[in-house]
Amino acid sequence: MSDYNMVHKSVLVAEVLELLDVVPGGVYIDGTLGSGGHSEFLLKAMGEKGRLLGIDQDEHALERAKDRLKEWKGQCTFAHGNFANIAEIARKNGFDEVDGVLMDIGVSSDQLEEAERGFSFMKDGPLDMRMDKSCGETASELVNNLSEQELRQILRTFGEEPKARRIAMAIVESRKKNLIVTTSELADLVEKAVGGRRGRIHPATRTFQALRIAVNHELDSLKEGLAGGLSLLRDGGRMAVISFHSLEDRIVKRFFAAHVGKNVSLISGGSEWIGELPLMELVNRKLVMAGDDENEVNPRARSAKLRVAKLVMS
Ligand SMILES: C[S@@+](CC[C@H](N)C(=O)[O-])C[C@H]1O[C@@H](n2cnc3c(N)ncnc32)[C@H](O)[C@@H]1O
Repeated sequence: MSDYNMVHKSVLVAEVLELLDVVPGGVYIDGTLGSGGHSEFLLKAMGEKGRLLGIDQDEHALERAKDRLKEWKGQCTFAHGNFANIAEIARKNGFDEVDGVLMDIGVSSDQLEEAERGFSFMKDGPLDMRMDKSCGETASELVNNLSEQELRQILRTFGEEPKARRIAMAIVESRKKNLIVTTSELADLVEKAVGGRRGRIHPATRTFQALRIAVNHELDSLKEGLAGGLSLLRDGGRMAVISFHSLEDRIVKRFFAAHVGKNVSLISGGSEWIGELPLMELVNRKLVMAGDDENEVNPRARSAKLRVAKLVMS
């Protein structure tokens, strides 16, 4: 029995296990341990000789996962840290060469449920949004200190928010009167700025996504995490990445494509392979997404995109 009330449902579990080709007795890294959902399945598949390193930058998530995975305590190593430093963290913990790395990025439903973390516009709480509460600037600090132009840029780039200009202006106007310190204050302000609710999606969805990405430097961490993860794979080792929006998926797709490389024709005749080393091969050519059955029971799965590639030559 777990001491925690966990609501997070892991996405694309069967697909991850199949495409990662989890081997009994293998060595794996879960770079986004979260509530330990995927790791539980990995541990079951790798059997009692397998070893797992679970990393998360959120101390609360680590506590939840340790509780969930206590049955496999002897096979697990837990580390608090950013997967941007995955190579360093892994080597420090004796995971120098591994059969697989999993990254299921973003936030978990359990984090969204914690009002005091400030990730959700559905829950009133301090406007924080840091996954790692031990460092970095909060979302409140960003909205109260950045210039209108910087805010607009964040909303546009990380939220793909078409009304970025209007929202940034409203933030700057509002903070002249009172600093914006709670999730509801920001959500209400955005709703008013865009002229109320229309449709199913809350008008503050993109703003919250954008700020979360900015607060946690999510895209830079992803780029570093991919490179670090690749450096740990043994020949034939696989890396699986689940992303939840197009910005992240583009980074993963380009990273894999660069290491798969391509043959280009030369004017002088023949062809030349162009790409980055080490050489990878795509395990799934087509993006893997959840089926209707999974989407029905887990709406988060709708936007999940899985890509898997393997190291063919280091
Ligand atoms: C979607 S959840 C993972 C859920 C997990 N796969 C499961 O099935 O329970 C993502 C987790 O990754 C963590 N995370 C996100 N970015 C991270 C990063 N750069 N470094 C370390 N952990 C990160 C979050 O704190 C969160 O707990």
